[in-house]
Amino acid sequence: MSTPACPGSQWTSSPLPSSAWPKHGGQAETLLTHFGLPADHRLDDFSANLNPLGPPAWVRDWLTRQLAGLDHYPSPDYSAARQAISAHHQIEPEQVLLTNGGAEAIFLTAALHAGKRASILTPSFGEYARACHAHRLSISEIPLSPLDFSLDIDALLTALSDIDVLFLCRPNNPTATLIDFSTMVVLLEHTAALNCRVVVDEAFIDMVDNSQDKAPLTTLLARYPHLILLRSMTKFYTLPGLRLGYLLADAATVQAAQAHQPPWSVNHLAAELVAPLLADDAFTRRTQRWLASEHPRMAQTLAELGLDMVPSQACFFLFRPGAEQRASGITSDVLFERLLRRGVLVRHTHNFAGLNGEWLRVALRDEPANRRLIKVLNDCLR
Ligand SMILES: Cc1ncc(COP(=O)(O)O)c(C=O)c1O
Repeated sequence: MSTPACPGSQWTSSPLPSSAWPKHGGQAETLLTHFGLPADHRLDDFSANLNPLGPPAWVRDWLTRQLAGLDHYPSPDYSAARQAISAHHQIEPEQVLLTNGGAEAIFLTAALHAGKRASILTPSFGEYARACHAHRLSISEIPLSPLDFSLDIDALLTALSDIDVLFLCRPNNPTATLIDFSTMVVLLEHTAALNCRVVVDEAFIDMVDNSQDKAPLTTLLARYPHLILLRSMTKFYTLPGLRLGYLLADAATVQAAQAHQPPWSVNHLAAELVAPLLADDAFTRRTQRWLASEHPRMAQTLAELGLDMVPSQACFFLFRPGAEQRASGITSDVLFERLLRRGVLVRHTHNFAGLNGEWLRVALRDEPANRRLIKVLNDCLR
């Protein structure tokens, strides 16, 4: 691919109005049009956090064989999939609700609390707020520290006195920070006394390096019936087009959430795929090997570029140009445009509460892709 030189330090196009930035990763069309680039402009996509090793190699053939089942409705309670998930997490099948991606699990959780008072730890994934709006919850945002996006647990506990449900993400998208297990226990003890539900979105927990303090919260479900865990299988297994996720909670909560779920919400192919995916230990081991080798290397290389980095505990990185780079006119918006023109799509942060586009997020990919990113970033920061 021929790579044009990086343009000067300012926007070469007029800035996009905040509302025009795409809501999610990918979605390059609006951006290409705005920046006057052709629709077939080649892009290396670092804007969506997906496992670069997936989907597992056997999935395509397996799906083809399952096409024969398309003329039946899926079993409405998805018992085989729920059984496989419960065995995987060593909990009861009644504690599992299969969902059409982690996104449906978020919306079902909001439906459970319709009309109540929610808090969202911000900046975080925008769908919590959208789901709360859809189900008429009032929202108060509780900001993470503006310096390093760490959590002040005392401030959080104080802010929760009048709240029915707290949404948080672990590890957090987009900051890549992870609330440790012992802090989660403190939070759960306190919220149990306050009668405040705690919803923890663990969409990326399987893409956290094993060296991090990421003990699973599933072991806390029995002790804290006010805890709801949300999982996505689409990130780890790279199946965003198929959609697969689940909700874990106590049996009564699962039943209540299921009452809000449309029938057959998860299609036959996705539901049947759950058990074989969870049985693929080799894929999990390969993913961990990738994280163990690529994550520390990228963290160090990105830091060497003079960027302000948020210490990452997940399979993505949040950064902005360092003070000197910003002083010379390279804002995050400028860097975003330069990268796009050079064929690299990163995630803007214009629609993450509290970030205002001042930061950029990039996904960790395989080694050749990561090297390409570093090279182009290096050029664009000059
Ligand atoms: C934190 C978080 N949770 C949930 C989701 C949705 O996951 P799924 O694609 O499984 O619906 C996303 C997608 O970007 C996400 O970032």
